[in-house]
Amino acid sequence: MPPMIECRQVVKAYKVNDHEVVALRGIDFEMQRGEMVAIIGPSGAGKSTMLNLLGGLDTPTAGKLVVDGLDLLSLKGQALAEYRLKRVGFLWQQTARNLLPHRSALRNVTLPMMMAGVPPWRRVNRARELLDAVGLSDQVHKRPASLSGGQQQRVGLAVALANRPDLLLADEPTGNLDRASALQVMDLLQDLRQRFNLTILMVTHDMAMAKHADRILTLRDGALGQDLTHGSDNQPRLDESGRIQLPEQVRAQLNGAPRISVEIRPEGILLRPETEQADDTAALLQEMLPQDAPPQKRRFRLFRRLGRRKKETA
Ligand SMILES: Nc1ncnc2c1ncn2[C@@H]1O[C@H](COP(=O)(O)OP(=O)(O)OP(=O)(O)O)[C@@H](O)[C@H]1O
Ligand SMILES: [Mg+2]
Repeated sequence: MPPMIECRQVVKAYKVNDHEVVALRGIDFEMQRGEMVAIIGPSGAGKSTMLNLLGGLDTPTAGKLVVDGLDLLSLKGQALAEYRLKRVGFLWQQTARNLLPHRSALRNVTLPMMMAGVPPWRRVNRARELLDAVGLSDQVHKRPASLSGGQQQRVGLAVALANRPDLLLADEPTGNLDRASALQVMDLLQDLRQRFNLTILMVTHDMAMAKHADRILTLRDGALGQDLTHGSDNQPRLDESGRIQLPEQVRAQLNGAPRISVEIRPEGILLRPETEQADDTAALLQEMLPQDAPPQKRRFRLFRRLGRRKKETA
């Protein structure tokens, strides 16, 4: 069976004033039907850009992007609008982006179906079925403002699934929720995935949420990095004394450096080959120099000063 998502060397560059911002620099990625994948990465990594491309909200600058057999680069006009309305569902971090404030939960869920031309009785039945599936059958007439954040995201899920898409794209779906509500939304995602046979791609900063996926990928500076999937064979384990044995592919990244620096970041722990001793000394020396003088003169002054000090101590 062909994959649900196929990305080949996908590049996205934005023109800002006169220069280019490259948000994605050659993404190679595949997702199978029914899979749930989490993409984790820091702010500005390109996570939302990737979801926007997959959802047909933006077009790649270069590369190949096929979703469910549709080549998104050649999809235009009505066909693209149909794709966005029927083939893919979105859940955003900001509840306001998922729901219209003046419509009840039920009328929020019927809206995408109305746009798709579904007859009134069918859209109400489907909306009730979906609101029941997200556990809100007793809240159908409430407007978003009188629902909790977690409940609003659950209505958002019902809206996203209204036109029976096969693919659900979720951009930080639990980013604005407390822990308990976030976990409920994650459980619900799993439940809906089984029930409606969904393929889910979720973007998050939060490793605890990412762990609910079958596969966890990292995105940094517009490039996909290591597969962090739990339980996969290439994962190092931490022993009781705090030692880890890094897999070969990670060691290769560290270029055989004798020492590595460890940096704790919100999304995880970053290992970097440490700069050479000689470089450190040079940097230290540079710091000692008066910063306003041109380089040669500075060095000359420093050595003169050192020389003077030697004479004084002699
Ligand atoms: N419409 C745009 N015009 C210009 N630059 C953009 C645009 N959208 C995104 N970018 C740039 O592309 C890069 C990736 O942005 P993106 O929003 O995809 O990051 P992100 O990983 O979703 O970050 P966050 O976690 O903060 O949401 C950033 O440098 C951003 O400034
Ligand atoms: Mg984003």
